[in-house]
Amino acid sequence: MEIRLAKTAGFCFGVDRAVKLTYGLLDEGRKVATLGPLIHNPQTVEDLERRGALVADTPADVPAGYEVVIRSHGVPRSIYDELDARGCTYHDATCPFVKKIQKVASEAEAAGATLVVAGDMSHPEVQGIVGHTRGEVFIFSDLAQLKAWKGPSDPQKPIFAVAQTTFQVTKWQESSEFLKKAYTNARIFDTICNATWARQQEAEDLSQQCDIIVVIGGHHSSNTQKLVQVAARHTRAVTVETASELRPEWFADVKTAGVTAGASTPSSIIEEVLNSMSAEINDSMSFEEMLNASEEKRVHAGSIVKGIVTS
Ligand code: F3S
Repeated sequence: MEIRLAKTAGFCFGVDRAVKLTYGLLDEGRKVATLGPLIHNPQTVEDLERRGALVADTPADVPAGYEVVIRSHGVPRSIYDELDARGCTYHDATCPFVKKIQKVASEAEAAGATLVVAGDMSHPEVQGIVGHTRGEVFIFSDLAQLKAWKGPSDPQKPIFAVAQTTFQVTKWQESSEFLKKAYTNARIFDTICNATWARQQEAEDLSQQCDIIVVIGGHHSSNTQKLVQVAARHTRAVTVETASELRPEWFADVKTAGVTAGASTPSSIIEEVLNSMSAEINDSMSFEEMLNASEEKRVHAGSIVKGIVTS
């Protein structure tokens, strides 16, 4: 079995920035509370908790003396107001791609426009975005919902349309085409982030070359689930949060397996999964063990090193 690892697998720029900021503050001995779990990766969140970071649901839950980290998903305008009112020191790790959408939401309010958002209304990024306008908002997650929408309360109102940064690219293309035709006063903002475009494109390509795609990521991670949906259009796609969730039977008769990972998956977990998959091919011997094994086995291990290629 050949294993192909996607080049884009793992932390995106925005998650990397938030994680480094938080560990940096802890290294300096600061008391840190994140507003919600920092990223959709339970192992990283547990590690931060071991290092002393707290997870607070709201500014009111932040104990005195703690500095607040706003995660990459961003927060509604009201949360900044509350942090200021409470005199909290905060560090804003909102991803610049998300900030751009929040700005469009504020501009929609100023223009008296209806904000149309392609995304998951229960996702914190979407809640943060809609919290930057006091105007009319419509959220949809698929084309059928958009088609069923009756339009702005006043048909003369302009429409500003945005997508959650991790929305599925092809679904957004269909939706924006529909909006352009159905509403001549709609302004479309292409707000899916570069990291999402690149990951979904690579998952699409890889899934056409492989018998199975393993997507590593948090079970609650939106961008991880999107990668699974994209890959599943062409091949069998499975998702695991850690190496312990891999199932040997998935790889029976598999010649080429692709591996990719969500934007909040640490490289250590990707490495563990690759090790386990390599071990699967080699009678349960770990990748490390293979490298330390006898000459004969090292030759075998060498073929596995060649087997892990980046697409
Ligand atoms: Fe930012 Fe995109 Fe990552 S919005 S947090 S770079 S998935």
